[in-house]
Amino acid sequence: MKAKRRVVTASGASVPPARRTPTVRKPKSPFLPARQRGPGAVTPLTSPDPGGRPGTDGLPVDLRVDLGRGLVLPNPILVASGTFGYGTEYAEVVDVNRLGGICCKGTTLKPRIGNPTPRVTETPGGMLNSIGLQNPGVDAVLEKYADTWAGWPVPVIVNVAGESVGDYVEVVKRLDGMPGIAGIELNISCPNVGRGGLQFAIDADAAASVTAAVRRATDLPLLVKLSPNVSDVRPIARAIADAGADALCAINTLSGIAVGPARERPLLGNIYGGLSGPAIKPVALRIVYEVSQVVSIPVVAIGGVTELADVLDFLAVGAVAVQVGTAIFADPTLPVRLVDELAGECRQRGLTSYRPLIGTALPKRAGAPSSKGAEYRP
Ligand SMILES: Cc1cc2nc3c(=O)[nH]c(=O)nc-3n(C[C@H](O)[C@H](O)[C@H](O)COP(=O)(O)O)c2cc1C
Repeated sequence: MKAKRRVVTASGASVPPARRTPTVRKPKSPFLPARQRGPGAVTPLTSPDPGGRPGTDGLPVDLRVDLGRGLVLPNPILVASGTFGYGTEYAEVVDVNRLGGICCKGTTLKPRIGNPTPRVTETPGGMLNSIGLQNPGVDAVLEKYADTWAGWPVPVIVNVAGESVGDYVEVVKRLDGMPGIAGIELNISCPNVGRGGLQFAIDADAAASVTAAVRRATDLPLLVKLSPNVSDVRPIARAIADAGADALCAINTLSGIAVGPARERPLLGNIYGGLSGPAIKPVALRIVYEVSQVVSIPVVAIGGVTELADVLDFLAVGAVAVQVGTAIFADPTLPVRLVDELAGECRQRGLTSYRPLIGTALPKRAGAPSSKGAEYRP
């Protein structure tokens, strides 16, 4: 399918290209203090939020979140890539339009059949998966889902993977301007065949060059997903932000293995798998805490969210939104329930917005802002 080129708004609605707002200058995040948003900045997001429903006391809660470049989510609860399919699979059990956003399964240029089985195993407090980016390829994804997504108010963010910078750029070019695509999430935890299989995500230069190349290829909002499998994520996060990402997502899975029942070989067909679920939450919290202090773009947290307390913890260490992943396999209704619970929590605290919950556990900074963006605060 090659649909007529249209521009897609954050709500997934498409408008003719003539109405497209030129994105010459990157809009500054409303989560930055007013002094950083420039002269005459007003606090945006003041009207009642469609995601936060009025409670019995009638107090509306503003849950909207601006991820930059016009991508404004109705609320800060998204579903993580690889755990919610393309959204359509869950549309009969969950009101997907109540979600803050859907990150679809990783999408590559060509179809991929994925890794040999077994591909998943349970672990204490989580799971290991080695699905291997099984997907039908970008053209088939567009053909099958783009029109449905365009009819949904929920923003759909396409998770993109590749084996070379050229792969990523080509996938993104095919997504650019198609109906129903609200943004791109780059999965850079993939081997770069041009650099001996070294993952883009573990090298600041490689992460920056793929981000910059994709940035040049599209005006779509660009989120880049960090890997926890590095000794210090901060230089990588800064390099990605400097290369033009609109937001960062943290974290992808942790590399791990399990041993087979006869102890003759590792259990997974691919040997290595990605660890996810509650077991990784402390690692994700640490990384969000570190990253949100060194970049001035929004950070979306991922890793082990199973209840409202997890959402509140991630907001406290600087995330502006969270993605729910593995927990969806046990309860697909969890993300929508978290939207209501977050609004309820705000009401209970007498808040009309969830924004005061962001960054409360970050160190307080005195003095002039640093040039590294470490002053980032909601
Ligand atoms: C079965 C499975 C498939 C996944 N597939 C992808 C993927 O295609 N692209 C991606 O960026 N992350 C993928 N992930 C990682 C998740 O999006 C998320 O970053 C990770 O699971 C941590 O969140 P959680 O602990 O809430 O699951 C996958 C995770 C699981 C469990």
